[in-house]
Amino acid sequence: MNGLSFEKKLEFARKKTAEYNQEHLLQYFDLLDDNEKELLLDDILNIDFQFMCSLYKNANKEINAKNLDLKPAVGVPKSSMNQKELDEIYELGLAEISKGALCAVTMAGGQGSRLGHKGPKGTYDIGLPSHKSLFEIQCDGLKRISEKAKVAIPWYIMTSETNHEESVAFFEKNNYFGYPKKDIMFFKQSMIPVMDKQGRILLESPSKILKSPNGNGGLFSSLKDKSIFSDMRKRGIKWIFICGIDNVLVRMADPYFLGFTIKNKYKASAKSFLKRDASEKAGVFCYKDGRPYVIEYTEIPKELAELKDEKGDYVYGDTNVLNYIFDIDVAENIASAGLPYHTQIKAVTAYINGEYVESIKPDSYKFETFLFDSFNMLDDMGIFRIEREEEFAPVKNKTGIDSAESAREMYLAVYGAES
Ligand code: UD1
Repeated sequence: MNGLSFEKKLEFARKKTAEYNQEHLLQYFDLLDDNEKELLLDDILNIDFQFMCSLYKNANKEINAKNLDLKPAVGVPKSSMNQKELDEIYELGLAEISKGALCAVTMAGGQGSRLGHKGPKGTYDIGLPSHKSLFEIQCDGLKRISEKAKVAIPWYIMTSETNHEESVAFFEKNNYFGYPKKDIMFFKQSMIPVMDKQGRILLESPSKILKSPNGNGGLFSSLKDKSIFSDMRKRGIKWIFICGIDNVLVRMADPYFLGFTIKNKYKASAKSFLKRDASEKAGVFCYKDGRPYVIEYTEIPKELAELKDEKGDYVYGDTNVLNYIFDIDVAENIASAGLPYHTQIKAVTAYINGEYVESIKPDSYKFETFLFDSFNMLDDMGIFRIEREEEFAPVKNKTGIDSAESAREMYLAVYGAES
């Protein structure tokens, strides 16, 4: 489409928007300058309207989880292992890291809207005495293991259109926190248009379509599209450690986790912890149609979330930390297969009827893929259950549960005030 004349692009854009009832996208076209007109036309021509329509049609269909064939999945508690077993998996993992076979990936493309922080979530200061940002906390973790393994662990950071420049500039400004610059790589995930409940694609401004990152499941396809898998292979990577940005107790490139995966011959593993209560905003591990799966907190039926066994423990209790390890071959296969989209109803600011309108309550459809859906393509996977107070302190909310305050307290309890 790039080689087309302006007139042709406009003609196609008018045709396409009319065909899919999206004419409003060109509502302010005549008011734009030439550059804005070109940008908007390119944006429109790059949208797969048919695909967007199919996402919209699915959006209103509730997943009928009662009809899902779900069975609980139980993690292997790290606490159940004796010292000899622990030493064995640690040494196994560390030896593999020393060979340069593990890289780390941080998914930091999300918008952190619940936190109300302006700027990339990784730049957030949770108020530690050192005022370390979430990015620096992760970098410290990598340095610790790199020193033990005597090798710099390549670190790939997934950003998105909304926060890429600011994230890179933050690392530059902070001199990459003393980590080798050549071993930190940034790449952007894809964005997807946001719709209102009537199925109309929203505008961010008169000349720009409103888009949001396509969910953390965008990871593998971005690794493929941006040739990151090739870069990993050139570096001799066999294992990919993956985490989100918001857990201040994350054990980056954890040798125990890798050793557990290798010892049990898994091609993929995830960490779990036992859920606090039935309403905890975290996904739980299970089997769907006999294959590993995570059912997200937004999708699990209440009766399953609350179900307890005769001992009083949650049946669906092993909860997703969002720490994964994948064999690179498996990750590449998943990237080719693609992942399904889930609909998230969110508050947004959009340009509607000539003004910027901020939703008062969640009222717009964002479409996201979830990385954990890839587990359902595997025959089996490892679930390594860790202790929450040692390894899980997420910063999700402004105040209260899972906030900067709770994460700070937990971080100081583990690493001390000096850290
Ligand atoms: C996520 C998990 C949930 C788990 C919980 C633990 C998913 C879908 N949900 O919930 O099962 O129990 O963590 O804290 O994985 N991100 C991107 N790009 C995006 C969207 C998100 O990089 O387009 C990143 C975020 O920056 C964050 C991570 O993915 O680091 C997870 O964010 P989010 O999708 O909001 O899931 P949570 O509600 O945190």
